[in-house]
Amino acid sequence: MPSPPRQPHRSSGARAPDVRSLADAVARAWHSTRNSASPEIALSTVAALALVAPPIGQISATAVLIAGLDTDQFREFLRRYWTIFVRARPDLLPAAWPLVAPWLGDNPADDATVDAARRVARVALDAGQLHLTGTLRRRDADVFGPLLVELRADGARLAAGQFYTPGPLADTLATVLLTNEIAPGQSVIDPALGTGGLFRAAAQALRARGLDPAGVLWVGGDIDAVAVACAAVNAVLWELGPQVVLGVGDTLAESWQTAAIAQRAEVLQIAGQLRAAAFAADVLGGVARLVDLATPPPAPDART
Ligand SMILES: C[S@@+](CC[C@H](N)C(=O)[O-])C[C@H]1O[C@@H](n2cnc3c(N)ncnc32)[C@H](O)[C@@H]1O
Repeated sequence: MPSPPRQPHRSSGARAPDVRSLADAVARAWHSTRNSASPEIALSTVAALALVAPPIGQISATAVLIAGLDTDQFREFLRRYWTIFVRARPDLLPAAWPLVAPWLGDNPADDATVDAARRVARVALDAGQLHLTGTLRRRDADVFGPLLVELRADGARLAAGQFYTPGPLADTLATVLLTNEIAPGQSVIDPALGTGGLFRAAAQALRARGLDPAGVLWVGGDIDAVAVACAAVNAVLWELGPQVVLGVGDTLAESWQTAAIAQRAEVLQIAGQLRAAAFAADVLGGVARLVDLATPPPAPDART
């Protein structure tokens, strides 16, 4: 991380924001940039910030540090956090791809888009995002549902039927309908997943019963690839565990679960092979260095 900025940055606020005011602030910041890139840039920026786990007592200092990054440093910051995400959860990469692609894909974002993302980040940090997503409070919040709604034009939002279940309502539903229903080893399936709000509520209902959500198989699908990408990040933030299967498609018409399960298995197999290849390269590199050490240098008179 570079040294703190010379320009003082406003305090990031000690109180965690509610998701709606955070979404409002971020969406306004994004629209004010008039950047022609897709709103995935704003979602992806908030998601990368959400992956930051500041040390205890260092939330405000971390916010100041990030807010002071210049264009190249901020691009590197985003690339680094998305790399960490992909390394930690290769199984979620296909689902998360719309948010990962601007930073790790073949057509990386240009400087103007990175600057638009920086503006979004500064506003999110000013609003106190790290006090929400950088603490266990993140388990009680779906940052992306309201943000996705705010970022989209009204027409597109209505056409997609995207009004996500408010958190408290989802919590009540989960408590009333799911208490004593789900247990480790069972599955929770949502074929109209959105950003995953009902998974969050179900996970919290499990925790309230002293159960670990990581023991459950979470299967979700939605026709909206960007919403599913947000759900993939949420799965990590909400600590749903390693068994998360997410698919994109028309869940009324397609065998989306089978496709999503097959894709997940394939990606995990490729990731396993790549890890084995990287391990083999490390070992071979180590052997080569040992051979170099063990091989005596040629005698001076043998040199030409
Ligand atoms: C009202 S939202 C609910 C999201 C989430 N379950 C919640 O409670 O917050 C409905 C979701 O259904 C999705 N959807 C609508 N038609 C669909 C279809 N045919 N196949 C898959 N998803 C669909 C929309 O994209 C939207 O994300």
